[in-house]
Amino acid sequence: MKVTVVGAGNVGATCANVIAHKELANEVVLVDIKEGLAEGKALDIWETSPINLYDTRTIGSTNNYSKTAGSDVVVITSGIPRKPGMSRDDLIATNAGIVKSVTENIIKHSPDAKIIIVSNPLDVMTYCAYLTAKIDSSRVFGMAGILDTARYRSFLAEELDLSPKDIQAVLMGGHGDTMVPLPRYTTVGGIPVTELIDEEKLDAIVERTKKGGGELVNLMGTSAWYAPGAAAAQMVEAIVRDQKRVFPVCALLKGEYGMDNIYLGVPVVLGKNGIEKIIELDLNDDEKALLNDSAKSVRSVMDVLDNMDLF
Ligand code: LAC
Repeated sequence: MKVTVVGAGNVGATCANVIAHKELANEVVLVDIKEGLAEGKALDIWETSPINLYDTRTIGSTNNYSKTAGSDVVVITSGIPRKPGMSRDDLIATNAGIVKSVTENIIKHSPDAKIIIVSNPLDVMTYCAYLTAKIDSSRVFGMAGILDTARYRSFLAEELDLSPKDIQAVLMGGHGDTMVPLPRYTTVGGIPVTELIDEEKLDAIVERTKKGGGELVNLMGTSAWYAPGAAAAQMVEAIVRDQKRVFPVCALLKGEYGMDNIYLGVPVVLGKNGIEKIIELDLNDDEKALLNDSAKSVRSVMDVLDNMDLF
């Protein structure tokens, strides 16, 4: 197995590091445009192999995509992160061109790869990669839901003073403040969370989750990387090990949930073929309304992409 991670910034390097530690591939190629950055981070990660006892090779490349040839899975993290006061949508003018050119290079050298987008604004950058790659949408999808549910689950674990391992949840919609955590589908060791926490506290956690990325941007002056990098690596794991995991993933909808031609977070089955199934939940009217609002907000950013005339 060969995995490429494009972008050797905080998220990309963290993702490559987790992939190597878990031995999810024989080779991880890290690519960046900044001279020497990917080579340096790849070498630094490789130098942890005798300490942490794994044998995945990590190789760096400054914009030389021939080194990525024949990758099974590619994670694209390229683009600028947000600063305090910015929304993810403010990044589109810069990041759309970057994601397009990276995807062109990737597909040229790895035509059979599964492509995971992490760049923001996530839903629309995933759409941008799909339009560029011109491959089946089961092979182009975005990482957001695993990160957003991880935040939600970690907040719940803290509040309930229970293991985060036992908290299961699903969250839908766009990767922005309109995302839709679903308390009705949240369980703790099989027990509906609503039986363990009062409504007010749960509402506060849902609200904190929606702004979870912004909370970190405000603390650090740039966006997060440990959880985003680990979340992308978990998607890589599901694919390379053909685990058929059920995860919320940003996927192209073709009629599911009554929507067409839009990338949005939905529960899917992830395995060796990429998205093997989109699961349609029986949402109630309130949940449907929230999902439709989120779709509306993603569509407004899709319009900005359309007006950029990149395609
Ligand atoms: C976040 C960025 C990666 O949510 O979108 O932290």
